[in-house]
Amino acid sequence: MKLLVVGSGGREHALAWKLAQSPRVQIVYVAPGNGGTAQDECLRNLDITDPAALADFVEREHVALTVIGLEAPLAAGIVNLFRSRGLKVFGPTKEAAQLESSKDFAKAFMKRHHIPTAEYETFTDIAAAHAYIDRKGAPIVIKADGLAAGKGVVVAMSPDEAHAAIDSMLADNKLGDAGARVVIEEFLAGEEASFIVMVDGKNVLPLASSQDHKRLLDGDKGPNTGGMGAYSPAPIVTPQLHARVMREIILPTVRGMENEGIRYTGFLYAGLMIDANGNPKTLEFNCRMGDPETQPIMARLKGDFSKIVEMAIDGKLDGAKLDWDRRTALGVVLAAHDYPETPRKGDRITGIPAETTDAVTFHAGTTLTDGKLTTSGGRVLCIVGLADSVHDAQSVVYDTVNQISFDGMQYRRDIGYRAVNRKQSDRQG
Ligand SMILES: Nc1ncnc2c1ncn2[C@@H]1O[C@H](COP(=O)(O)OP(=O)(O)O)[C@@H](O)[C@H]1O
Ligand SMILES: [Mg+2]
Repeated sequence: MKLLVVGSGGREHALAWKLAQSPRVQIVYVAPGNGGTAQDECLRNLDITDPAALADFVEREHVALTVIGLEAPLAAGIVNLFRSRGLKVFGPTKEAAQLESSKDFAKAFMKRHHIPTAEYETFTDIAAAHAYIDRKGAPIVIKADGLAAGKGVVVAMSPDEAHAAIDSMLADNKLGDAGARVVIEEFLAGEEASFIVMVDGKNVLPLASSQDHKRLLDGDKGPNTGGMGAYSPAPIVTPQLHARVMREIILPTVRGMENEGIRYTGFLYAGLMIDANGNPKTLEFNCRMGDPETQPIMARLKGDFSKIVEMAIDGKLDGAKLDWDRRTALGVVLAAHDYPETPRKGDRITGIPAETTDAVTFHAGTTLTDGKLTTSGGRVLCIVGLADSVHDAQSVVYDTVNQISFDGMQYRRDIGYRAVNRKQSDRQG
């Protein structure tokens, strides 16, 4: 059978790579794909991004299943369009995708359904927003309501920073429509984790736990990025915490959407903040998998993922079971010169080794022209290593990273340090 994955990042490369391992899958199209998906003989790039043109292609080529990797087409209604044409697609409808595309929608939904999250209020009025900050003080968190590609959240450590964020979004319109409405919420302290599940409208199938590193520099310093590395499993997600997140956050969300007449289908990602006592709160929802969390998660997934996706589309996830490689998978992102500010394009990439059973390279911002691979985006590659411990997975990854080069290459040397520290403190008692 033929499949389609929509997107061009490391997440979509990893999804397509995993789907292509199924013996019943002949080809996975990736639209528009990248330099890595262009090189893989089981994958084929499709230079189409318009949803209606994609649906035409799927009909013409008898593509059996489509998986939407990224949020923008979901928020624009690509799932609604595919379904209206009778095409099998995995992702939420435009209405359900509001859990990600409107932070205000998500916060109001969580409040209605008593799902643990930070206290908040929503504003369009500038003076009222400033007055709220004066009343609450700092630290405080300002969030643009709409999709802002990771640039819509300011964690303000001082009132000045908070006021400036309000002015930038509500007065100066720096984020356009996305920032014309803002959520101001309570600052939560703790450690973050990513909790990702598959949903078929009713049944929920959790994926393995994961944790990512958002900051550019070692020690979680420097500016926020789309993500500089991730690993799975995340030791902070103990079996007890897992059960609690399912009971207090995931299941009430899926039931709540169903009860409100907006059945949720697709990947559902809850960004969690876990406080010092181990209590989880929801920072946000994403209506797709995380990037780079997908890369280590797919590297650990065993079995035929195409069957799981098909069961999800058919509403049969209650019969699905996932098997995981018991090893830790750890992914390190190699980013371009001057990422995240103004990533440079066009640097020649060399030295990517062939895939082995314990190291895989997923591409993101790469382009293949005349057999030459060059950088074409901020996050260029994600190298995933698998080993019996986080520490050993780090060794596998960094050995691979040392073989790869391009001008301006930046990466973190400490991906996974929280998991290493946690294991050490567990051993000490
Ligand atoms: N209430 C909060 N308290 C502390 N930090 C927060 C809070 N909300 C968000 N953050 C931080 O900001 C980051 C981005 O916020 P998030 O809600 O995930 O928005 P997005 O991913 O859409 O930018 C989070 O990963 C977290 O580090
Ligand atoms: Mg987030």
